[in-house]
Amino acid sequence: MVSVMKIFALVFILFTHTKYLCADKPCAVRPIEKQSVVCVCNSTYCDDVIRNHPAYGTFVIYTSSQSGLRFKKSVGHWSDNLTSSKTTLYLDPSKQYQRIEGFGGSVTDSAAINWRSLSPVLQDYLIKSYFSENGLEYNMVRTPIGGSDFSVRPYAYNELPWGDARLTNFTFSPEDILYKIPMFKSIFKVAKTPIHIVATTWSPPPWMKTNQNYSGFSQLKPEYYQTYADYHLKFLEMYNAAGVPIWGITTTNEPINGIFGLAPFNSLGWTMREMGKWIEQNLGPTIRNSTFSNVKIITGDDQRLTIPYWFNVMLTYHPKALDYIDGLGVHYYTDKFVPPQIFDTVTLTHPEKFILATEACEGSFPWETQKVLLGSWNRAKSYIIDIFQDLNFNLVGWIDWNLCLDKKGGPNWASNYVDSPIIVDKDRQEFVKQPMFYAMGHFSKFVPRDSVRIEITEKQSFLPSSLHKTAFLTPRNTIVAIIYNDGSERTIDLQNGKRHAMLPLEAHSITTVEFSHTYR
Ligand SMILES: *[C@@H]1O[C@H](CO)[C@@H](O)[C@H](O)[C@H]1NC(C)=O
Ligand SMILES: *[C@@H]1O[C@H](CO)[C@@H](O)[C@H](O)[C@H]1NC(C)=O
Ligand SMILES: *[C@@H]1O[C@H](CO)[C@@H](O)[C@H](O)[C@H]1NC(C)=O
Ligand SMILES: *[C@@H]1O[C@H](CO)[C@@H](O)[C@H](O)[C@H]1NC(C)=O
Ligand SMILES: *[C@@H]1O[C@H](CO)[C@@H](O)[C@H](O)[C@H]1NC(C)=O
Repeated sequence: MVSVMKIFALVFILFTHTKYLCADKPCAVRPIEKQSVVCVCNSTYCDDVIRNHPAYGTFVIYTSSQSGLRFKKSVGHWSDNLTSSKTTLYLDPSKQYQRIEGFGGSVTDSAAINWRSLSPVLQDYLIKSYFSENGLEYNMVRTPIGGSDFSVRPYAYNELPWGDARLTNFTFSPEDILYKIPMFKSIFKVAKTPIHIVATTWSPPPWMKTNQNYSGFSQLKPEYYQTYADYHLKFLEMYNAAGVPIWGITTTNEPINGIFGLAPFNSLGWTMREMGKWIEQNLGPTIRNSTFSNVKIITGDDQRLTIPYWFNVMLTYHPKALDYIDGLGVHYYTDKFVPPQIFDTVTLTHPEKFILATEACEGSFPWETQKVLLGSWNRAKSYIIDIFQDLNFNLVGWIDWNLCLDKKGGPNWASNYVDSPIIVDKDRQEFVKQPMFYAMGHFSKFVPRDSVRIEITEKQSFLPSSLHKTAFLTPRNTIVAIIYNDGSERTIDLQNGKRHAMLPLEAHSITTVEFSHTYR
């Protein structure tokens, strides 16, 4: 009897799994006037999303839209028939480009403080929303080495004794112990793939700097070049001992800020020539000659416009520095003014080096008076368009800034408030997921590490296209295409080999479609 029951149960499970989609917990919608919607998570409810492995001959579609859809799931069937659609997108899996490292967000002091202000149940919901299999499946995190502006005070490690070149007092900050390391531990508990953490210094202790201050015009005093390299190694050792291994370091956050006095927060100015010298003579040998020799060294970590200069200047003055460098980091803030073609200056001349987007947020400009703009689809769209540009110009990943902020867009000791995909409301003990959260998920959840970008092209008769697109071959042996429709509702034809898929695209929506690669 028992075995017969078992067979029935098995058949039942098989039947339901092939025929129906796994149920997600839908968005608890809170409409925002003049904007799109936010999804509310409280102590008893939080939306999630499960990826369905596409059954043979089918494709699974996920859609989020300005009108309020969030990961709406449906299934279609491939057909031999030509569709009557005016637009066709052709996939060519034989044309392959860069390998993907991953997607993620940042564990700043502020993000971790906001996270800790929630009840344990909500803390768990927030981490699962980003990192679990029922969430966005983030696999990268960036974190400051010591403080950044997204801290409640300016600080660095080993601030005292003053002039302590041997760094005899390098130890955890209270922020590490109370907030950041617990957040990392919570992330590691739910993540199914290794989290690659990129760590970055904003400012070393003031005694290492020409202006002896955290912000303003400053450079590293030449007598502390080796100390600043050791400072990075000490951090790698300390975090590793705490169970938080670091995958990569960048060579200082936004180094031109301290040259031009651009930012009223923690910074350290570097000319590219001096940076080359420091990497060649101090940082490179120190890291490569340590037990952390595999840690990636990522230089740049500044806006798009600076990209061509790093390698050119280093090649001219300190060519050996390039031997130590694995890649370049790039920030988001001027992307609307600098086209992504600028990446070709590196990807074509140095194909062995990667470019990774290491920081992005909305609401950062002084003229953006609303720092947190609840429900903004425009801000989600800005993320989406930027990620398409970066991926289609061979970037290997995209890391968002603060994982969560408060209603004001902080805390931030320098009053540099900005937006975040998750806004925490400590008083109401809830958090809301902005449209930007879902924008990130349409990429991060479906394009796992080691996916390879493939060709997707559009055949269009005459109209200017309102479609943005990119596609990948994944290690799950599926093809994932992501499409943003900036126009009105339409149906397009997606063609793979001789097969056609009719894809319904909502107005102003992002769609991820996944299907088995072997089905032709
Ligand atoms: C939490 O959200 C759910 C879904 O929106 C709602 O039904 C429930 O009443 C909320 N609970 C609390 C305590 O606010
Ligand atoms: C393909 O076209 C044939 C002939 O016109 C039709 O019978 C069939 O239903 C179509 N299949 C699909 C999936 O549309
Ligand atoms: C070590 O650093 C801590 C924290 O900044 C400080 O309180 C302490 O005085 C320092 N120790 C020495 C010997 O300077
Ligand atoms: C550091 O700079 C800030 C802002 O420019 C200034 O208010 C502060 O007094 C300076 N601190 C020191 C120790 O010079
Ligand atoms: C590497 O470390 C060893 C042992 O600590 C030392 O002898 C050697 O000089 C170091 N090499 C460099 C390039 O720093």
